[in-house]
Amino acid sequence: MKSGTKDYSEYFDFSNAKVLSEDENGTTIRLHGREIRIKSQPDYRAGKRRGKDSIAVHHEFSIPDDMRAFGEGKRYYVQTYGCQMNEHDSETIKGLLEQMGYVGTEDRTEADIILLNTCAIRENAEDRVFGELGHLKMLKTERPGLMIGVCGCMSQEEGVVNRILRKHAFVDMIFGTHNVHRLPHLIREAVFGRELVVEVWSKEGDIIENLPKKREGMRAWVNIMYGCDKFCTYCIVPYTRGKERSRRPEDVIAEVRELARQGFKEITLLGQNVNAYGKDFEDIEYRFGDLMDDMSKIDVPRIRFMTSHPRDFDDHLIEVLGRGGNLAEHIHLPVQSGSSAVLKKMGRKYTRENYLELVAKIRREVPDAAFTTDIIVGFPGETDEQFEETLSLVREVGYDAAYTFIYSPREGTPAAAMADDIPMEVKKKRLAQLNALIAEQGRRSNEALLGRVLEVLVEGPSRTNGSVLAGRTRGSKLVHFEGGPELIGTFVQVEITEAKSWHLAGSLAKTPVAAD
Ligand code: SAH
Ligand code: SF4
Ligand code: F3S
Repeated sequence: MKSGTKDYSEYFDFSNAKVLSEDENGTTIRLHGREIRIKSQPDYRAGKRRGKDSIAVHHEFSIPDDMRAFGEGKRYYVQTYGCQMNEHDSETIKGLLEQMGYVGTEDRTEADIILLNTCAIRENAEDRVFGELGHLKMLKTERPGLMIGVCGCMSQEEGVVNRILRKHAFVDMIFGTHNVHRLPHLIREAVFGRELVVEVWSKEGDIIENLPKKREGMRAWVNIMYGCDKFCTYCIVPYTRGKERSRRPEDVIAEVRELARQGFKEITLLGQNVNAYGKDFEDIEYRFGDLMDDMSKIDVPRIRFMTSHPRDFDDHLIEVLGRGGNLAEHIHLPVQSGSSAVLKKMGRKYTRENYLELVAKIRREVPDAAFTTDIIVGFPGETDEQFEETLSLVREVGYDAAYTFIYSPREGTPAAAMADDIPMEVKKKRLAQLNALIAEQGRRSNEALLGRVLEVLVEGPSRTNGSVLAGRTRGSKLVHFEGGPELIGTFVQVEITEAKSWHLAGSLAKTPVAAD
């Protein structure tokens, strides 16, 4: 038990819960006629702590013998919310389930196990999960043998686990982001103990290499680091994902080489803040620029990365990106606000001017760089003038696209203690104004590409029109064009003939040019 030092009663105030047993395997209580085993629970204070303990890397992972065939003849359904990090964790969850013999299904009503891999970033993300739990309750009533699990970032929140135990006690297991690899054990305990099992580690775990992953398509995601130490004042991620810890370069390189060998065409390196990669190595001087340099030597057509914090974007990295090759010139560089005063309150530790200088520096070295960003509107105290500064920064940078959000207070974060004083209608008006500007800019940057012939990695039929193919340019722009299904998974050259706000359209260029 990683965080089980706290007595459950300190936090779970279940006055009508009966304690059945307490031993080294946790505390078992009975609540609403259901037995609940709390092995370890989320603890914000523990999640916030940044100890000096070094992170051990484990290379030996295997499914316990008695669970290897446990899923045979059974089906799983995994519903993923949130960011790419969660999508990738779901690939691990699916990989683990398949190693236990389960097969996937897209139909929840025929699943034997349903897992919700949740996101805690904004309140509406959480509301969706609670809504889904309401639906699942009916399914569970019809099929009592169905197992339901909640995992991901919401499980790391004290209040959420409390709410599930009180209101959704039909759930069979709750586990967190640090103990995904424990899934086979937790299934065993929930099934054979017939209890709701809660195992959430608040302190980050060690790095477990060689976990199975179920990857699909021609694009693959590779974690290069876990956690976040930035503690932006509005953000829950440092609490739900733990401290920053980097995978060893040799493990990342080996995984990417293997994916290249398997024929993946595009690899995205993942981290909440990839530029901080390697800062935690005590024995080697090896940072994100060095990793990208090593990536450029691997035979994969395209390498991308997500997400960059402006703060750690160093000159060596910029120089390496400037060499091009297989390093795609798309930079997702969240700015959050164009006002230095708001940035200060957000704890972002850069100013508007620093950010603009960084963009200019990257543009000098990587002339074709496409920039995208994340922006929050309605942060506590944001004035009309400060919001105008965000609009002017957006105009100045000329983003290709942006993810825009209304500020949502997250319990336990420093910003949640600030007055959330911007009325909802003002937040919505700002969001609409910002989105209109970004759409306009997106269309203009797309228009600049009219007549150009661009290299496109064909992903599949377009979502809106099955007879049209969709793919992405190196700058991550979506392109629609007509072509046969045999082109899926290949690189083609497309001549751009139409520019919309969110996509380009074109036709296959007559003379194919080899992809580099
Ligand atoms: N690590 C990434 C961001 C991950 S979260 C980075 O720092 O770049 C994705 C985005 O969600 C953030 O960039 C931010 O714009 C938004 N976000 C995070 N917390 C939020 C909150 N409390 N309310 C609204 N938006 C939030
Ligand atoms: Fe959250 Fe900031 Fe970390 Fe991004 S860098 S995950 S916004 S705390
Ligand atoms: Fe959400 Fe967790 Fe990602 S809070 S955005 S799923 S890191």
